[in-house]
Amino acid sequence: MIGNDVAHAARLLEQGKLVAIPTETVYGLAGNALDINSIGEIYRVKNRPSFNPLILHVPNLETAQKYVTHFPKEALQLVRQFWPGSLSILLPKSNIVPDVITAGSSHVVLRVPNHPITLELLNCINFPIAAPSANISNTVSPTSPNHVNQGIGHEINYILDGGNCKIGIESTIVSIKNGKVQILREGGVSREDISRQTGLQISLSKQKTVQTPGQLKKHYATQKPLYIVESISEYIKENPTQNCSKLYYEENDNHDVENIYYLSKNYDLSEIANQLFSIMRLADKDPTDCIIIEPIKLKGIGRAIDDRLKRAANN
Ligand code: TXA
Ligand code: MG
Repeated sequence: MIGNDVAHAARLLEQGKLVAIPTETVYGLAGNALDINSIGEIYRVKNRPSFNPLILHVPNLETAQKYVTHFPKEALQLVRQFWPGSLSILLPKSNIVPDVITAGSSHVVLRVPNHPITLELLNCINFPIAAPSANISNTVSPTSPNHVNQGIGHEINYILDGGNCKIGIESTIVSIKNGKVQILREGGVSREDISRQTGLQISLSKQKTVQTPGQLKKHYATQKPLYIVESISEYIKENPTQNCSKLYYEENDNHDVENIYYLSKNYDLSEIANQLFSIMRLADKDPTDCIIIEPIKLKGIGRAIDDRLKRAANN
């Protein structure tokens, strides 16, 4: 079930079967993006609403160009900088891309993941892969083969083992509007990275309509309630009867040892992103009533962490 046989994974995909694949962000549930039956299986296994479109994964820019009608120059600038990597981009789709991938939209999201095993896989098949995160819809995304196995292992044929995901939260999704970059989902590549490395302007306009239908208010949710609290110590004082799992961004001299997690040693945002989903899963298994965490600093990848926490807290 779990292994590192790329040729076997390729054969399964060619036969229309589903395979979990490693990426640098989170594990994906992969199927042949040009095969309507495989796509149907992805929606079924994830219990994903059909209005929520899927990202197309390809091995390189040249292949990506087959699936879009137009690549604006700003988009080229972005992908030359960040591919392979955690940046996904929304572009006008070509006719080859089935409508079920985009949930009927005229635009498709494309990404070249930065993981050697998955790049090898993408290079030895002759179709793109549709790959949402390899979890049941709305639950915490998987960052290891075991996470995938616990959630949907019984439904799929193979989990391609690429170890733990290096980034740990999903890719950033962007579109280009009037020459500016619009952030549709915060993720592994921060706005600071984008402006520093490309000089492109980031449009700050807040859209009221949902542009990425998957970004619903409740998402990435643990089973038990997760609360974002101003101060963990105050919260515990005010709610003495509640038994909480406590998530801290850095180590401290707290003498309480039970149900405590440190997301990093020293408030390192990359390390926090990397640990977030697996620690949320661990805390979910504690014999506690809830999970509490303080707000994260809103800079760099901290914005993506904030986004995931707020959605997880919405239940
Ligand atoms: O890091 C990632 O992007 C991971 C790995 C596996 O590549 N994939 C991932 O896929 O996060 P998923 O399906 O969990 O999230 C994709 C998001 C959803 O919120 C979806 O609504 C949005 O991208 N999306 C996909 N195609 C779209 C489209 N054509 N228009 C607007 N939003 C789209
Ligand atoms: Mg997802």
